[in-house]
Amino acid sequence: MLNIGHRGAKGYEPENTLLSFQKAIDIGVDGIELDIHLSSDGAIMVIHDETLDRTTNGKGFVNELSLQKLKTFQIEKENTIPTLIEVFDLVNKRCFINIELKGKGTSKPVINLIEHYIEEKNWNYGHFIISSFNWSALQEVRKWNAKIPIGVLTHTDLDLAIAFAKFIKAETIHPYFHLLTKENTIKMQNEGFKVFAWTVNETEDIQKIKSFHVNGIISDFPDRI
Ligand code: G3P
Ligand code: CA
Repeated sequence: MLNIGHRGAKGYEPENTLLSFQKAIDIGVDGIELDIHLSSDGAIMVIHDETLDRTTNGKGFVNELSLQKLKTFQIEKENTIPTLIEVFDLVNKRCFINIELKGKGTSKPVINLIEHYIEEKNWNYGHFIISSFNWSALQEVRKWNAKIPIGVLTHTDLDLAIAFAKFIKAETIHPYFHLLTKENTIKMQNEGFKVFAWTVNETEDIQKIKSFHVNGIISDFPDRI
C-alpha cells in the first residue's frame, strides 16, 4: 500500500511548498500529491486555490498574474509559490508525483513538461499520476498522451467513476475516503483499478481504510500511514 503525502506534508509544513514536499520525502513517502494552476504567462504554479488569498500574503487570481509577480508573494516560513519545474527538480525521482489539475488549461502544459522530463532527464511514466475532479481535463490528458497514468478523482458516485476510468484508460480511482467500503474497494480493484483514498488523517480512519486493502492513502500526516 502506497503512502502519499497530501500537498506534501500539509500537517507539518505550509501546503504545496518545497519545504512541505521535502518534509514528505524525509518521512519516506512513496509519492506526493500537489495542485496546479497556470500563471497569466503560462507558468505551471503549485497552489491549491484559484486565488492567492488563503495561503499567501497576496490577493487576487493566480491566472491573472505573471510568474514574476506571483514570486513576490510570501507563504509562511519564507516560502514562495513553487513552479512545477521547481518541484520536479527538488523531488528528482525520489518519489512519484500526483499532479492534481485544478486550473483551466493545465492539461497540455503538464503533458509537455512531463514528456520533457521523460525524454531529456531520464524520468519515466511511473514517476507521475495526473488526477482531477474535472474529468474533461483528464480526457484532454488522454488525448495528448496514451501512456501517462491517470487518476479519476471523485467525492460522489463510484460507479460513474469506474465507467469513466474505463473510458479514458485510467490507472487509479481516487475516492473521498468516506465513500469507501471493503466491498466497493474490491469492486474497483476487480474492474482493474488501483484505489487511492483521500484525505485520511485520523489514526482510526487510517486503520479502517487500511483494512479495506486500498492501494494507496493520501494524507496530510504521512508519518501516520
Ligand atoms: O487529490 C486528493 C485531494 O487533494 C482532493 O481534494 O481539495 O485537497 O485538492 P483537495
Ligand atoms: Ca489536491
